[in-house]
Amino acid sequence: MAFSFRKSLRRFKTDAVAEFYLHIAPLLENEQVQSLENYTQHNCYSRLNHSLDVAYYSFFIAKLLRWDTGSTARGALLHDLYLYDRSECEQSLKGHLRSHPKIALENARKVHDLNKIEEDIIRKHMWFATLTPPRYKEGFIVTFVDKFCAVREGLISLRNRSWERTAQQTKQLPAPAPQPIA
Ligand SMILES: [Fe+2]
Ligand SMILES: [Fe+2]
Repeated sequence: MAFSFRKSLRRFKTDAVAEFYLHIAPLLENEQVQSLENYTQHNCYSRLNHSLDVAYYSFFIAKLLRWDTGSTARGALLHDLYLYDRSECEQSLKGHLRSHPKIALENARKVHDLNKIEEDIIRKHMWFATLTPPRYKEGFIVTFVDKFCAVREGLISLRNRSWERTAQQTKQLPAPAPQPIA
């Protein structure tokens, strides 16, 4: 039978999705993880969605590189496990960017028995805002994927706001006069 690149790619993706859910399924049953659905991230969608996006893209890159996919997926899913809205936070933006990894790590330890890679992923995911880079290669994937997702969510939020503004302005315009039928 002839080799089909498309078929192989489709099978790789299907296997990857199944493997991803095997890694994260026990965590998704946890109440604290589920409650991330109640918090908005980057004025865009829920923190649970953000965490799932970061986890999936990071997992996929780790799989392509044949690195530790399980630790990457779990660490990335729990990287933002802090249970408050940014708007409720009394800290400055800089303070929040630096402190939330520690809070997420404390919460994640209660949810799952973290290994060293997962701990490091959560603690160091804000590298650049914090000074210490990740210790493990999987941590570099998550820190860069997190930034990519944050920028993407920021752009979606800007687009949504501009659509809302346009829709409001359109509503304020007088309705066009009915045209006589020729
Ligand atoms: Fe974060
Ligand atoms: Fe994040």
